[in-house]
Amino acid sequence: MSLSKETIDKIRETADVVEVVGDYVTLKKRGQSHIANCPFHNEKTPSFNVSASKGIYKCFGCGKAGDSIQFVMDIEGLGYVEALKHLAKKYGIAFEETAPTAEEVVQRNERESLYIVLNHAKNYYQEILHENEEGKAIGLSYFKERGFSEDTIKKFELGYSLDAWEAFTKDALVKQYSLDLLEKAGLSIKREQTEVGKSSHYDRFRGRVIFPIHNVSGRVIAFGARILKTEKTQPKYINSPETEVYHKSQILYGIAQARNAIRNEDNCYLVEGYTDVISLHQAGVENVVASSGTSLTDEQIKLISRYSHNITVLYDGDNAGIKASLRGIDMILEAGLDVNVVLFPDGDDPDSYVKKIGAPSFREYIKAQKQDFITFKTKLFLDDAAQDPIKKAGIIKDIVESIAKIPDGIKRAVLFQQCSKLLQIDEQVLIAESNKIQITKNKKRIEEPQILTESESAIADYLDKNNETPMNELELVKLQERELIRLLVNFGNEQMEGDVRFIDYLLQEVADHEFKHPLYSRMLTFIQSEAINGNSIDTSIFIAHSDSEIRNEAIGMITSKYEASSNWEKFQIVVPTEKDNLFQSVFTSIMRLKWRSIRDMIELNMQNLLEPLEDAEVQKFQHIHIQLKSAEKEVAAVLGIVIGK
Ligand code: GTP
Ligand code: MN
Repeated sequence: MSLSKETIDKIRETADVVEVVGDYVTLKKRGQSHIANCPFHNEKTPSFNVSASKGIYKCFGCGKAGDSIQFVMDIEGLGYVEALKHLAKKYGIAFEETAPTAEEVVQRNERESLYIVLNHAKNYYQEILHENEEGKAIGLSYFKERGFSEDTIKKFELGYSLDAWEAFTKDALVKQYSLDLLEKAGLSIKREQTEVGKSSHYDRFRGRVIFPIHNVSGRVIAFGARILKTEKTQPKYINSPETEVYHKSQILYGIAQARNAIRNEDNCYLVEGYTDVISLHQAGVENVVASSGTSLTDEQIKLISRYSHNITVLYDGDNAGIKASLRGIDMILEAGLDVNVVLFPDGDDPDSYVKKIGAPSFREYIKAQKQDFITFKTKLFLDDAAQDPIKKAGIIKDIVESIAKIPDGIKRAVLFQQCSKLLQIDEQVLIAESNKIQITKNKKRIEEPQILTESESAIADYLDKNNETPMNELELVKLQERELIRLLVNFGNEQMEGDVRFIDYLLQEVADHEFKHPLYSRMLTFIQSEAINGNSIDTSIFIAHSDSEIRNEAIGMITSKYEASSNWEKFQIVVPTEKDNLFQSVFTSIMRLKWRSIRDMIELNMQNLLEPLEDAEVQKFQHIHIQLKSAEKEVAAVLGIVIGK
């Protein structure tokens, strides 16, 4: 399908990038641009920029960039034309559909067909609920009995499926939907055996009230269907199976209806059931989604975090499900989101409770009962363990594990304090336990096989000996400076190919780098003056140096960890020494120094961007950022470093 050029232009003009992006992420104004946490990758500090004046967005973290159309394509997973139509609908721009080309007909893919048939099914079930005698008598009266208003029923597009085997399928066939498609959409099920007088397929949903499940943009992708009879042999709910457009683990019930409210309230209530979502909406609490009784997934957390970084879990009063859900909540903590918990009185879920006490009291209740997740978990377990010291030890470990998952150090510190009181255990013990967990985690990472170049192992050695961990790019730059000085001290006199003195080559290469480390800067000055005077750069000139700092550092550099083993000689194994690969070593070290320096500059520049700035300054720093990034990429490519997202 194609759109006319005029229409496309009109969409481009109308679709304000801030408005479009703002539908999906929480934007904060900074100068003339807006910033947010990037919806395309996980991050804790915002590097996603939107410029209204330029009509573009760009993430300095993962590099995704484009205009409002590109944004819709990326976030909704749509093609170009689909994205345009999506925007046209949003802005009420009429679009003509010119005759599709043969190729475009082929492109009208299965997903699109699925959406169409699912939408048809939704309309069908809605019509049955409102127009059909059985639908009205059974379905509609059930919803009314539960207290759902006409508006609520319409808002959630609720429906009813007749208590018959083939009512829907037959009707859909008459309307020219193919059996294949009905089956793929999860609406019709193929019979194992075909019987005379019966069709090959039957309806999945029969004699149930229907809850359409929408994706973020409000398209129907699946159904949940609740039984009304008290038949113990049948499951209470039947859901659509996984299809091309429905991935249970990636969606939350109610997200389409809730997303604006979640953003505005900067909080997302998480409940268990469809009816909880609906009842809360009716009570005016709209920032609510349901996990539909299953445990939370990473994708679902990511989905929520597009709109807010605060989740409040509303637990049913029957304790049964709580323990099982705790792991899912640890995942929320790990994602860097804040989690609070509200527990309802025994026997009540959010749905029944809001009906019992009314909307204003319900809000009050949430406010009063809301507690931080870790505190909640600690209390929950303590009730359990009572006076059993062994159980208590296990609990402490469990709690500490949860806290250790929180990326933010300050939050962790506060929680250690609180839990130490609750558990009546010294705070330091908790912190030590958490450190242990961290160390095991880090060890695992280090144990992954790493192939180090000689320069890299020299640096690693140095770090080991001095018990240091570089904290930022500047420190890494200094380490790289040390490595170059080490090469100069050890190999200053060597010749390179073409009779170039190694020292001259290296000095020329580092000429435009101002050494950051004072000692290495002094050593370099010393080496330079010796070289200019035509003196040979022998290790002895360092060992005899009058400056004791230079002397000591040089001695540390000369002692190599690669003392040849006597076995090697015995078995006549020729070990290539660093000298044989000198050019490679030096070249890599220089490139690494450049790379680290650029990264240091990026870090500094990023700090600039965090200050309150004038628009012009923001643009200046963003420009610098882009240039540095591309320089970094170039150098990294030479080094064969793949810069991750
Ligand atoms: P009401 O009992 O009518 O208030 O419904 P509810 O939505 O509160 O259901 P409940 O609290 O029993 O379950 C919470 C959620 O778990 C439901 O909304 C469903 O998504 C899911 N669920 C419950 N029972 C079943 C079942 O038998 N099968 C499936 N697939 N899901 C279920
Ligand atoms: Mn319920």
